[in-house]
Amino acid sequence: MRLTAIISILFLVIVTICSCSKNDTPAPPDPCAGVSYDVQYFKTEAVTGVGNGSLSISYPVGDTFTYKLNTGAYQLSPLFTNLVPGTYVLTVKNQKGCTDTAQFEIYSYGPKYALVKQIITGYCGPCHLNGASSGGKNFDTDLSIVNSWDRIKARAVDNIPSQMPEAPNSPLTAIDKQKITDWINAGHRQSD
Ligand code: HEC
Repeated sequence: MRLTAIISILFLVIVTICSCSKNDTPAPPDPCAGVSYDVQYFKTEAVTGVGNGSLSISYPVGDTFTYKLNTGAYQLSPLFTNLVPGTYVLTVKNQKGCTDTAQFEIYSYGPKYALVKQIITGYCGPCHLNGASSGGKNFDTDLSIVNSWDRIKARAVDNIPSQMPEAPNSPLTAIDKQKITDWINAGHRQSD
Protein backbone atom coordinates (compact mmCIF):
# COMPACT_ATOMS: atom_id res chain seq x y z
CA MET A 1 0.00 0.00 0.00
CA ARG A 2 2.74 2.47 0.94
CA LEU A 3 4.82 1.35 -2.03
CA THR A 4 1.87 1.89 -4.38
CA ALA A 5 1.41 5.39 -2.94
CA ILE A 6 5.11 6.22 -3.47
CA ILE A 7 4.99 4.92 -7.03
CA SER A 8 1.86 6.98 -7.70
CA ILE A 9 3.51 10.14 -6.35
CA LEU A 10 6.67 9.44 -8.34
CA PHE A 11 4.60 8.95 -11.46
CA LEU A 12 2.74 12.19 -10.81
CA VAL A 13 6.02 14.07 -10.30
CA ILE A 14 7.52 12.66 -13.51
CA VAL A 15 4.39 13.50 -15.50
CA THR A 16 4.40 17.02 -14.03
CA ILE A 17 8.08 17.58 -14.80
CA CYS A 18 7.71 16.25 -18.30
CA SER A 19 4.65 18.35 -19.12
CA CYS A 20 6.26 21.41 -17.52
CA SER A 21 9.50 21.10 -19.40
CA LYS A 22 7.53 20.52 -22.60
CA ASN A 23 5.50 23.68 -22.11
CA ASP A 24 8.53 25.74 -21.16
CA THR A 25 10.60 24.92 -24.26
CA PRO A 26 10.44 28.02 -26.49
CA ALA A 27 10.19 27.58 -30.25
CA PRO A 28 13.70 27.77 -31.79
CA PRO A 29 14.30 31.25 -33.25
CA ASP A 30 14.10 31.40 -37.06
CA PRO A 31 17.69 32.17 -38.19
CA CYS A 32 16.31 33.71 -41.37
CA ALA A 33 13.79 36.04 -39.73
CA GLY A 34 14.22 39.57 -41.04
CA VAL A 35 16.74 38.57 -43.73
CA SER A 36 16.09 40.94 -46.60
CA TYR A 37 18.52 42.43 -49.10
CA ASP A 38 18.09 45.58 -51.15
CA VAL A 39 19.83 43.90 -54.08
CA GLN A 40 21.87 46.29 -56.25
CA TYR A 41 23.02 45.34 -59.73
CA PHE A 42 24.16 46.63 -63.08
CA LYS A 43 22.85 44.90 -66.20
CA THR A 44 23.53 45.04 -69.91
CA GLU A 45 20.81 44.13 -72.39
CA ALA A 46 20.92 41.41 -75.01
CA VAL A 47 21.86 43.02 -78.34
CA THR A 48 20.63 41.47 -81.63
CA GLY A 49 18.44 39.01 -79.72
CA VAL A 50 21.23 36.59 -78.87
CA GLY A 51 22.32 35.59 -75.37
CA ASN A 52 24.82 38.35 -74.65
CA GLY A 53 23.09 40.16 -71.79
CA SER A 54 24.74 40.30 -68.39
CA LEU A 55 24.01 40.94 -64.73
CA SER A 56 26.61 42.14 -62.24
CA ILE A 57 25.55 42.23 -58.58
CA SER A 58 27.14 44.95 -56.44
CA TYR A 59 25.16 44.32 -53.23
CA PRO A 60 25.16 42.05 -51.29
CA VAL A 61 28.60 40.70 -52.18
CA GLY A 62 31.32 38.85 -50.27
CA ASP A 63 32.63 35.31 -50.03
CA THR A 64 29.73 34.21 -47.79
CA PHE A 65 27.15 34.87 -50.51
CA THR A 66 26.08 32.68 -53.40
CA TYR A 67 23.72 33.51 -56.27
CA LYS A 68 21.46 31.73 -58.70
CA LEU A 69 19.18 32.68 -61.57
CA ASN A 70 15.74 31.07 -61.85
CA THR A 71 16.10 27.35 -61.07
CA GLY A 72 19.82 27.21 -61.90
CA ALA A 73 22.61 26.16 -59.54
CA TYR A 74 24.11 28.51 -56.96
CA GLN A 75 27.42 30.11 -57.94
CA LEU A 76 30.03 32.11 -56.03
CA SER A 77 30.49 34.77 -58.69
CA PRO A 78 28.18 37.82 -58.57
CA LEU A 79 28.44 38.05 -62.38
CA PHE A 80 26.12 36.31 -64.85
CA THR A 81 26.85 36.48 -68.57
CA ASN A 82 25.39 35.09 -71.81
CA LEU A 83 21.83 35.97 -70.76
CA VAL A 84 19.06 35.76 -73.34
CA PRO A 85 16.25 38.36 -73.28
CA GLY A 86 13.63 37.60 -70.63
CA THR A 87 12.51 37.95 -67.04
CA TYR A 88 14.74 36.47 -64.35
CA VAL A 89 14.45 35.76 -60.64
CA LEU A 90 17.75 36.22 -58.84
CA THR A 91 18.16 34.41 -55.51
CA VAL A 92 20.79 35.59 -53.05
CA LYS A 93 21.83 33.15 -50.29
CA ASN A 94 23.86 34.07 -47.20
CA GLN A 95 26.16 31.89 -45.07
CA LYS A 96 23.23 30.67 -42.93
CA GLY A 97 21.36 29.46 -45.99
CA CYS A 98 18.86 32.30 -45.79
CA THR A 99 17.65 33.60 -49.13
CA ASP A 100 16.08 36.68 -50.67
CA THR A 101 15.06 37.28 -54.26
CA ALA A 102 14.96 40.11 -56.80
CA GLN A 103 13.39 40.16 -60.22
CA PHE A 104 14.84 41.83 -63.29
CA GLU A 105 14.47 41.80 -67.04
CA ILE A 106 17.02 41.57 -69.82
CA TYR A 107 15.71 43.49 -72.81
CA SER A 108 16.26 42.73 -76.44
CA TYR A 109 17.98 45.60 -78.29
CA GLY A 110 18.80 45.92 -81.94
CA PRO A 111 22.47 46.87 -82.57
CA LYS A 112 21.69 50.42 -83.77
CA TYR A 113 19.28 51.08 -80.93
CA ALA A 114 21.86 49.82 -78.41
CA LEU A 115 24.24 52.58 -79.60
CA VAL A 116 21.53 55.26 -79.35
CA LYS A 117 20.62 54.09 -75.86
CA GLN A 118 24.29 54.48 -74.92
CA ILE A 119 24.31 58.07 -76.21
CA ILE A 120 21.10 58.97 -74.35
CA THR A 121 22.40 57.40 -71.13
CA GLY A 122 25.75 59.12 -71.50
CA TYR A 123 24.67 62.61 -72.54
CA CYS A 124 21.03 63.32 -71.75
CA GLY A 125 21.19 63.08 -67.97
CA PRO A 126 20.73 64.78 -65.56
CA CYS A 127 18.04 66.71 -67.44
CA HIS A 128 16.06 63.82 -68.96
CA LEU A 129 17.01 60.74 -66.88
CA ASN A 130 16.25 59.26 -63.46
CA GLY A 131 12.87 60.97 -63.27
CA ALA A 132 14.03 64.34 -64.65
CA SER A 133 11.96 65.65 -67.56
CA SER A 134 13.24 68.98 -68.83
CA GLY A 135 10.91 70.30 -71.52
CA GLY A 136 8.48 67.49 -70.61
CA LYS A 137 10.87 64.80 -71.92
CA ASN A 138 12.01 61.87 -69.80
CA PHE A 139 14.08 59.08 -71.38
CA ASP A 140 14.08 56.49 -68.58
CA THR A 141 12.17 53.88 -70.58
CA ASP A 142 12.97 52.43 -73.99
CA LEU A 143 9.44 53.24 -75.06
CA SER A 144 9.91 56.95 -74.31
CA ILE A 145 13.10 57.00 -76.41
CA VAL A 146 11.50 55.11 -79.29
CA ASN A 147 8.44 57.40 -79.23
CA SER A 148 10.63 60.55 -79.21
CA TRP A 149 12.85 59.56 -82.13
CA ASP A 150 11.91 62.62 -84.20
CA ARG A 151 12.50 65.07 -81.35
CA ILE A 152 15.81 63.39 -80.48
CA LYS A 153 16.87 63.89 -84.10
CA ALA A 154 15.72 67.53 -84.02
CA ARG A 155 17.49 68.47 -80.80
CA ALA A 156 20.61 66.28 -80.81
CA VAL A 157 21.38 65.85 -84.54
CA ASP A 158 19.85 68.74 -86.48
CA ASN A 159 19.90 71.23 -83.57
CA ILE A 160 16.46 72.63 -84.47
CA PRO A 161 15.40 75.01 -82.94
CA SER A 162 18.54 74.81 -80.80
CA GLN A 163 21.11 72.29 -79.74
CA MET A 164 20.66 70.45 -76.45
CA PRO A 165 23.37 71.10 -73.88
CA GLU A 166 24.58 67.50 -73.93
CA ALA A 167 26.83 67.71 -70.94
CA PRO A 168 29.62 66.80 -70.51
CA ASN A 169 30.84 67.05 -74.11
CA SER A 170 28.58 69.26 -76.13
CA PRO A 171 27.64 69.00 -78.93
CA LEU A 172 27.51 65.32 -79.88
CA THR A 173 30.36 64.22 -82.11
CA ALA A 174 29.68 63.62 -85.80
CA ILE A 175 30.13 59.90 -85.10
CA ASP A 176 27.45 59.92 -82.39
CA LYS A 177 25.08 61.96 -84.56
CA GLN A 178 25.57 59.39 -87.31
CA LYS A 179 24.63 56.58 -84.90
CA ILE A 180 21.30 58.31 -84.22
CA THR A 181 20.74 58.92 -87.93
CA ASP A 182 21.52 55.28 -88.78
CA TRP A 183 19.00 54.07 -86.19
CA ILE A 184 16.30 56.41 -87.51
CA ASN A 185 16.93 55.37 -91.14
CA ALA A 186 16.70 51.70 -90.12
CA GLY A 187 13.17 52.27 -88.76
CA HIS A 188 13.81 53.79 -85.29
CA ARG A 189 12.53 50.74 -83.38
CA GLN A 190 13.99 49.07 -80.31
CA SER A 191 14.78 46.05 -82.50
CA ASP A 192 16.74 48.02 -85.13
C1 HEC B 1 21.80 70.15 -69.09
C2 HEC B 1 20.42 69.80 -69.35
C3 HEC B 1 20.04 69.08 -70.62
C4 HEC B 1 20.69 68.04 -71.25
C5 HEC B 1 22.00 67.38 -70.85
C6 HEC B 1 19.85 67.66 -72.36
N1 HEC B 1 18.74 68.44 -72.40
FE1 HEC B 1 17.13 68.22 -73.63
N2 HEC B 1 16.16 69.74 -72.69
C7 HEC B 1 16.72 70.52 -71.69
C8 HEC B 1 15.79 71.63 -71.40
C9 HEC B 1 16.04 72.72 -70.36
C10 HEC B 1 14.69 71.47 -72.26
C11 HEC B 1 13.44 72.39 -72.38
C12 HEC B 1 13.78 73.63 -73.15
C13 HEC B 1 14.02 73.38 -74.61
O1 HEC B 1 13.23 72.68 -75.26
O2 HEC B 1 15.06 73.87 -75.11
C14 HEC B 1 14.95 70.26 -73.04
C15 HEC B 1 14.07 69.73 -73.97
C16 HEC B 1 14.32 68.59 -74.73
C17 HEC B 1 13.35 67.98 -75.62
C18 HEC B 1 11.85 68.37 -75.74
C19 HEC B 1 11.66 69.60 -76.54
C20 HEC B 1 11.59 69.29 -78.02
O3 HEC B 1 12.23 70.03 -78.78
O4 HEC B 1 10.93 68.32 -78.43
C21 HEC B 1 13.99 66.93 -76.23
C22 HEC B 1 13.41 65.97 -77.24
C23 HEC B 1 15.34 66.91 -75.73
N3 HEC B 1 15.50 67.92 -74.81
C24 HEC B 1 16.31 65.98 -76.11
C25 HEC B 1 17.56 65.88 -75.52
C26 HEC B 1 18.52 64.84 -75.86
C27 HEC B 1 18.32 63.78 -76.92
C28 HEC B 1 19.59 65.02 -75.06
C29 HEC B 1 20.88 64.23 -75.02
C30 HEC B 1 21.53 63.96 -76.24
C31 HEC B 1 19.31 66.17 -74.20
N4 HEC B 1 18.08 66.65 -74.53
C32 HEC B 1 20.17 66.66 -73.25
C33 HEC B 1 17.89 70.31 -71.05
C34 HEC B 1 18.82 69.33 -71.36
